[in-house]
Amino acid sequence: MPDRYPPINAKCPHLLHGGDYNPDQWLDRPDILAEDMRLMALAHCNAATLGIFAWTALEPEEGRFEFGWLDAAMDRLADNGAFAVLATPSGARPAWMSHKYPQVLRVRADRGRNLHGTRHNHCFTSPIYREKVGVINHKLAERYKDHPALLVWHISNEYNGDCHCPLCQDAFRQWLRGRYGDDLDRLNRAWWTTFWSHTYTDWSQVESPSPIGESAVHGHNLDWKRFVTHQTADFMRHEIAPLKKITPDIPVTTNFMGVYPGLNYWQLAELCDVISWDSYPSWHEADSDVGLAAKIAFMHDINRCLKGGRPFMLMESTPSHVNWQPVCKLKRDGMHLLSSLHAIAHGSDTVQYFQWRKSRGASEKLHGAVVDHVGHEHTRVFREVAKVGESLSQLDAVVGTTKPAEAAVIYDWENRWAIDDLQGLGREQKKYEETCVAHYRALWRLNLGVDVIDQTVDLSRYRLVVAPMLYMLRPGMAKKLRRFVEDGGTLVMTYWSGIVDENDLCHLGGWPGEGLGEVLGIWDEETDTLHPAQRNHIIFTDDNELALDGDYEVRDLCALIHSRGAQVLAAYAGDFYAGRPAMTLNRFGKGEAFYIAARGDDELLTALYTKLARRLHLPAALEKRSPEGVSVQLRTDGRQRFLFAMNFTTATQTVQLDAGTYRNLLTGRDVTGELELPGYGVAVLRR
Ligand code: GLA
Ligand code: ZN
Repeated sequence: MPDRYPPINAKCPHLLHGGDYNPDQWLDRPDILAEDMRLMALAHCNAATLGIFAWTALEPEEGRFEFGWLDAAMDRLADNGAFAVLATPSGARPAWMSHKYPQVLRVRADRGRNLHGTRHNHCFTSPIYREKVGVINHKLAERYKDHPALLVWHISNEYNGDCHCPLCQDAFRQWLRGRYGDDLDRLNRAWWTTFWSHTYTDWSQVESPSPIGESAVHGHNLDWKRFVTHQTADFMRHEIAPLKKITPDIPVTTNFMGVYPGLNYWQLAELCDVISWDSYPSWHEADSDVGLAAKIAFMHDINRCLKGGRPFMLMESTPSHVNWQPVCKLKRDGMHLLSSLHAIAHGSDTVQYFQWRKSRGASEKLHGAVVDHVGHEHTRVFREVAKVGESLSQLDAVVGTTKPAEAAVIYDWENRWAIDDLQGLGREQKKYEETCVAHYRALWRLNLGVDVIDQTVDLSRYRLVVAPMLYMLRPGMAKKLRRFVEDGGTLVMTYWSGIVDENDLCHLGGWPGEGLGEVLGIWDEETDTLHPAQRNHIIFTDDNELALDGDYEVRDLCALIHSRGAQVLAAYAGDFYAGRPAMTLNRFGKGEAFYIAARGDDELLTALYTKLARRLHLPAALEKRSPEGVSVQLRTDGRQRFLFAMNFTTATQTVQLDAGTYRNLLTGRDVTGELELPGYGVAVLRR
């Protein structure tokens, strides 16, 4: 990883600020289109995302194209000194297309074909849809290849969902033939189809999982999910091809949705030059925003890691409220700047919105926007947005800087699929994502740089790897973990690990399988699920090596493990397994491997990771711990250090700085010793 990446596009060496912009909704209001430019300049916007849902405006009839309005919009942006994040329009298509070519319509898992309507509902296999997308993408690239405003290609919009039409069924079978070397027996073995007499005797019998058909074969469900990612990536590759041919230097991205389970983003990431994602936290839902801040930090860090640490784009966020959460709350004063710089702190080089201007009609007319129906700039939200724009314009030096991380948390999409699908434990107690976030949160509290990666990433650059609930070991993973510890790494694993292989077949011969039991020095024999209100406790043993003491509550899942050479750090206090090991430490090669047998709360995880951070001398953004609810994140180019100090509480907080003088880039003032942050306050300090 370099210390500093180039800007997303060298044309604009600044942090980007802007949002989804739909001039196509206002073509009969030239006054509004002109006013948009005045307002964008006032809000310090240097980018607008154009054309996401503009296919009908661009191709009102098959083969008849209208680019005039888009030419004018691109020109206006360029005249305004701003840039276009230009979208391909495949996220929603014209009605004429669905009517003339029904094959472009998606078929649901229950095998019913959708009618035309809404968006994000094309068949990703249909040759006709691909052809139409190819034509429009080609025309967009040809037309705007030399346009000074063209900055980034925004491919489609939030790819999601699947299609079960006959074309997709054929493609699924083809993909399976490739995966299983054209050997149906191999597929049958991998899917354990002898169960309930599900053995296939001909490829033509295989089809996608369905609520009215097959849904109980977990290897089958997994392969369908893998296929959906594969086919979406294939569709995306097809979208990108004409763009890369005509405009090889314009970076491409597609907007992701956090930990959306339907697509393995690690695979789509390979097709992107820059990662982008849409973040809509429900701020002010709970008494405290701190837990949510950690969860969003986790997602920002995934997006930063998807391309090995390269800065990403916050493609969408709301300047105020959304229109789809159960309660659509306004962002409190200050929260907009705080949440925007939160993204920058974790590696974003942009703050962009859905949406620039509220539409007059249809379902998103009441979704937050920079410009409200009132039409002028004298609104609270506009002022908050302008403040973000002004702040970002002070941060040119941050562009391209990186976040060093010596610790990583593994959050793996395929493992999540397998855990979501498994039947056992407690339905509500699986909580894979929450568990990964909980471990991450403990490290976040310590202001450590943390990567969030999947099982495919090289571990050798880390000193601490935390792999919660690694139920499914993907090929090569066990070896990689063994090597990591052997070479001196510190590994933390938990209950419910090393149970199945990539086909969801259980490992025989004791868990964690594939030799991980040896690395951890334990055998995990059984797992007890607790009812939601039930608790057990674990007690640290006298003189344990981490010098942890006392008694911690555990809930949900308690594994009954045996030490096979590991030191027992803590034991259960209650139930029939009282006295049995609950946390262990094993030396293996030059490294150490910890096993946490039961699900602890924040207290336990914070206590553990505080000790581990000290033991491993993991560098925090500041030497002294910041107050609870204040996160301090570091970006650096290897020479300059940029500290983002963010107060997610409503009270004033004081942060103890390291020795030396810092410049607050948002105020231009110097700070030494202590930094005072008001409720929801944020500072960007350079050293
Ligand atoms: C998504 C979409 C946008 C818009 C917003 C509303 O992120 O990409 O088009 O619908 O949600 O929050
Ligand atoms: Zn289809």
